[in-house]
Amino acid sequence: MTSQNQNFQRITLNQVTDERGSLCVIEGCKDIPFAIARAYYLFGLDSESPRGFHAHRKLRQFAICLSGSVDILMDDGSNREVISLSSPSTGLMIEPMQWHEMQNFSEGCVLLVLASDVYDEADYIRDYVEFEALVNK
Ligand code: TYD
Repeated sequence: MTSQNQNFQRITLNQVTDERGSLCVIEGCKDIPFAIARAYYLFGLDSESPRGFHAHRKLRQFAICLSGSVDILMDDGSNREVISLSSPSTGLMIEPMQWHEMQNFSEGCVLLVLASDVYDEADYIRDYVEFEALVNK
């Protein structure tokens, strides 16, 4: 099931729950709208040390908080919105040209990110002024 939170898309995954617990599956191009080329995860995080502060030129990503909670500030150049993730069955699409900042990590937070391509530093925009100029041109 897919739901729209203003400009920023959350995706709720199918959850299979029985007396043994729960299982969620993420298949590329099916449960999320891209083929998965890379997975990485953040853990051992500090609530006082926000991360991110960049946008990507082409990369598509899906972030899902497997444990604990995190707030993700999303900024497309005109709208800024804080999305809270606290469920291992609902994640957030981070599309290209969306400035994002991850903050307020809870104790034990584990944030899994699935990405549409391999790591490429050239795809990052780490300067907010450059980001604003590119999205508003
Ligand atoms: P970065 O994307 O800047 O992290 P965050 O947005 O969470 O602050 O990456 C941190 C470091 O890790 C940076 O030196 C690049 C490296 N890195 C990789 O080598 N491969 C990857 O897939 C990612 C996401 C980061």
